Amino acid sequence: MAPITSNQFSEMTFELKCACKWLKTTSKLVLLSFLSILLSCNNSSEPVSPEEEIDPDNEIVDLGNVTLNYRNHCGGCHGQDLGSFVERDWTYGNSHEDVINSITEGYTSNGMPAYGTALGAQAIEDLTNYILTEIDGKTKTMLQEENPDLSGLISSDDLTFRLETLTDEIPGIPWGIAQLPNGEILVTERGGGLFLINNNKQLTAITGVPDVASQGQGGLLDVLIHPDFENNAYVYLSYSRVNPNNASERTTAVARARLEGNNLIEVENIFTALPYLSSSHHYGSRLLFDNDGYLYVSVGDRGNRDTYPQELDNAHGKIHRIHDDGEIPTDNPFYNTSGAVNSIFTYGTRNPQGMSLHPETGSVWEGEHGPQGGDEINILEAGNNNGWPVISYGINYDGTTFTDLTELDGMEQPIYYWTPSIAPCGMTFVSSDFYKNWKNDLFVSSLKFEYLHRLKMDGNEVIGHETLLNGIGRIRDAHMGTDGYLYIAVEGPGRLIRLVPEQ
Ligand code: HEC
Repeated sequence: MAPITSNQFSEMTFELKCACKWLKTTSKLVLLSFLSILLSCNNSSEPVSPEEEIDPDNEIVDLGNVTLNYRNHCGGCHGQDLGSFVERDWTYGNSHEDVINSITEGYTSNGMPAYGTALGAQAIEDLTNYILTEIDGKTKTMLQEENPDLSGLISSDDLTFRLETLTDEIPGIPWGIAQLPNGEILVTERGGGLFLINNNKQLTAITGVPDVASQGQGGLLDVLIHPDFENNAYVYLSYSRVNPNNASERTTAVARARLEGNNLIEVENIFTALPYLSSSHHYGSRLLFDNDGYLYVSVGDRGNRDTYPQELDNAHGKIHRIHDDGEIPTDNPFYNTSGAVNSIFTYGTRNPQGMSLHPETGSVWEGEHGPQGGDEINILEAGNNNGWPVISYGINYDGTTFTDLTELDGMEQPIYYWTPSIAPCGMTFVSSDFYKNWKNDLFVSSLKFEYLHRLKMDGNEVIGHETLLNGIGRIRDAHMGTDGYLYIAVEGPGRLIRLVPEQ
C-alpha cells in the first residue's frame, strides 16, 4: 500500500499561528517573520511526492531566519514556544558560551543532536541569542496565558465539537490515560505521579506507584487497566526502571498492581526490557490489550539505532507480546528461536509512543517517531520486521542520510508516514458512534506542532486527513474512553480534556 504524505498546509497554518504569536512579542523579528510566512506559503501550497519530500531542503527551511531555524530544528523537542527553556534548571549552563557549546556538540547519548556541522557558527550564535533573549523574564505561567482560546465550538470537516477540561491541575507532563468502568480516569504524570480524576473532576494522587527514573524522556509513562478490571482491579504501568545493580542504567519496564481505593497494592514488575542502558531517551512504552487478552508493550531503540532494533537478542526497538501476568505466550513468533528474546512480537522499530486496537479488525496499530522525517504508522503482525534503520523515510538530524533505502524485501512498509516529522505520540481509533463520521478514524497527537492529527480511514487505508486543536500544547495521549468519549492529555498546564460532539 502506497503511503500518503502529510498535509503541508496544516503545518503552515500552525507556522502562521506561531509566527503570529511571535509577531506579538518579538518586534525586532516582525519583518523577517512576515517575509518567511509569505515565502513558505508559496512553497508549500501543493503537496509533494514522497521522493521529493525526503530531500533535506524541504525539512530544513533555512531562510537565515532564526525563528524558522528554531521551529524546524529545535521546537519539536524543546517546544515551539521555547517551553522547555523557560524556567529551566540548566544541566550544562545557560551562559552564552554554554548554550553555544550545547548546540554545537549536542548530547547525543541523551537525545540532543549535535548541530555543529548542520547549522554553522553564525546560525548557532543566532539561535543562542534568540533563546536567551526570548526566555528572559518569561515564566511558564506567561506561556500558558498565550495558549489559544479553544473555549467555543470547534468545527472539523465532519463534526462540530467543544472541549471540556476535566482538570488542568496535573503537575508536570501527563503521559497516559486509562478509564475505569465507573467513568473515573487514571492519568500518569511523567515525573512519577499517578492521578485519579473522579466524576466530579476532582484530582487525587494515587499512592504506591513504583519508583521511576524520571530523566530525559523517562519516568512514569503509560497506564492501562485489565480487561477484567471489575473483578481483579489490575492496573498496568509502564515506566523507566533503574537497574538495581547499576544506578546509572535504566530501561522500559511494566509493573502490575491492584487499585484499592487511592492506593496501589501488590505492585509487581512483570516485564523488563533488557539490557539496561545509560541513555535517557526512546523508551517507547505504550501498553495495549488485544481482544484475546494479550498484552503488548512497545519499547524504543534507546538511541542505539545500529545496535539493537534489527537484532533479536535484545528487547530494544521491539514490540513485545506477553500474558497479563508477564508470562511469555508459547505461540510468540520467536518463542523457539535460539538466542531470541521470546517476548518479541515485531522488530525494527525506533521510538513507538502510540498503539491502538483497530475497532473492526482487532489488529494492533503502532505509531512511532522517525528521526528527521519518517514518522510511521504500522499494523503489527507476528514476526514482522518494520525496517528501522535499514529502511526509513527519514534522515539524520544533521541533514546527512543513514540509509538510501525506503523499501526492502522482508521489511514492512508503513500504512502512513510523515515527512517532515510531526513527532507522533499517543494515538487512538475513535470507535464509538458519538462522533458520527469520525468513527474508525485514527487520531494521532503531534508533539512538534501541538495538534491532533485525524487520519480519515477507509478500512486500513488513509483516505484523507485534517489537523485539529492547533497550538493547544503538546498532546501526549489520545485515548478512546470506555464511555465512548475521546480524551486527550496535554501539557502546559497538565490537562485532561474530553472532546464533546455537538448534538
Ligand atoms: C530530538 C530532540 C532534540 C532536538 C531536535 C533538539 N534538542 Fe536540545 N536537547 C534535547 C535533550 C533530550 C536535551 C537534554 C540532554 C541532556 O540532558 O543530556 C537537550 C539539551 C539542550 C540544551 C542544554 C540544556 C541544558 O539544560 O543545559 C540546549 C541549549 C539545547 N538542547 C538547545 C537545542 C537547540 C538550539 C536545538 C535546535 C538547534 C535543539 N536543542 C534541538 C533534545 C533535543
